[in-house]
Amino acid sequence: MAAIVPRISRATPSLSSLARATRRVVSGCAIALRAGVAPLKTSSASSSQPRYLSSQSSPPSQCDVAQASPSSAKGILPEFDLNGKVIIISGGAQGLGVVQAEALLEAGATVHVLDRQSEPPVGSIYQKVAQRARDELGTSIFYHQVDVRTGVDNLNSIVEEIAAKHGRIDGLIAAAGIQQETPALEYTASDADRMLGVNVTGVLMTAQAVARQMTRLGSTGSLVLIASMSGSVANRGLICPVYNASKAAVIQLGRNLAMEWGIKGIRVNTISPGYIVTEMVQKLFNEFPERETEWPKQNMLNALSKPEDYRGAAVFLLSDASRFMTGADLRIDGGHAAW
Ligand SMILES: NC(=O)c1ccc[n+]([C@@H]2O[C@H](COP(=O)([O-])OP(=O)(O)OC[C@H]3O[C@@H](n4cnc5c(N)ncnc54)[C@H](O)[C@@H]3O)[C@@H](O)[C@H]2O)c1
Repeated sequence: MAAIVPRISRATPSLSSLARATRRVVSGCAIALRAGVAPLKTSSASSSQPRYLSSQSSPPSQCDVAQASPSSAKGILPEFDLNGKVIIISGGAQGLGVVQAEALLEAGATVHVLDRQSEPPVGSIYQKVAQRARDELGTSIFYHQVDVRTGVDNLNSIVEEIAAKHGRIDGLIAAAGIQQETPALEYTASDADRMLGVNVTGVLMTAQAVARQMTRLGSTGSLVLIASMSGSVANRGLICPVYNASKAAVIQLGRNLAMEWGIKGIRVNTISPGYIVTEMVQKLFNEFPERETEWPKQNMLNALSKPEDYRGAAVFLLSDASRFMTGADLRIDGGHAAW
């Protein structure tokens, strides 16, 4: 795992205010959090009208974690090395996706981001990661604007072009997803279709586009689908029936794709994160302050996670370190679903 120790300061930023929402502190550094949040509908008992929160928050200040861990080549396991590998990340403009992109770049991969947003501007976390890849890590990250649900033809063309450019595609993280908090009795059919369309159909179309190119090239690879602990349990006090159903579907989709494609040497696994403290979550804490104290109590570590807590899992699942692992769900939730 030493291969993913930051060689120098990371581009992912910190939000000191959000750090208070976690009970843990990364050794010697501010807690780094994401730049934006998913489109979120909220609906409390007092209001039946869902409300969208912004997904375009301004990036927080930079976090320097250089002193967090000394860089050392000693003890690096070669299985974690991603040098020369080409990996696609959907939803990599911000949030968990961009933090995982940085981890893969640090491990040596070339990364292609697919996201429905236009390319993030100068000063964004994404651009800081891109600059770091260029200037410090000796690798590259490329950006492609595409909607994985409504732009499937475009999605396939882009993935084909990536395969042609490099002559290979080695992996995928399908992190593009949306969230909506609405009671089941108020859920509309169009909202349910939209949620399942992005979180399930969009993930399938992305995995399919990548596996299609791997099959055409006759290559092996590793696909990682971002699910959620919410795919295994109902979240106490968080009313997201269709989101949770979509994440259960992602877990089951992962098993089935693993079964179909294992014979080709294409592995498929899911990651199920617990609560990740992001700006979106911080806004929820502002609106529902009791969640800030209640949610950590719901897991065994009495803490909430941050995007950086999933860096190691991304490199592990995309590298040869996990070469005998497929059809599995890696639940990383502080024990939330293990009571
Ligand atoms: N934040 C959490 O607490 C949490 C917990 C468990 C799982 N997850 C999952 O992790 C993943 C990333 O979440 P996040 O918190 O970083 O969210 P986020 O909103 O910060 O990032 C999601 C990204 O996906 C992109 N996206 C959304 N719909 C898209 C589409 N149709 N086509 C292309 N791109 C699209 C967005 O533009 C955004 O850049 C999601 O799948 C989410 O469900 C998040």
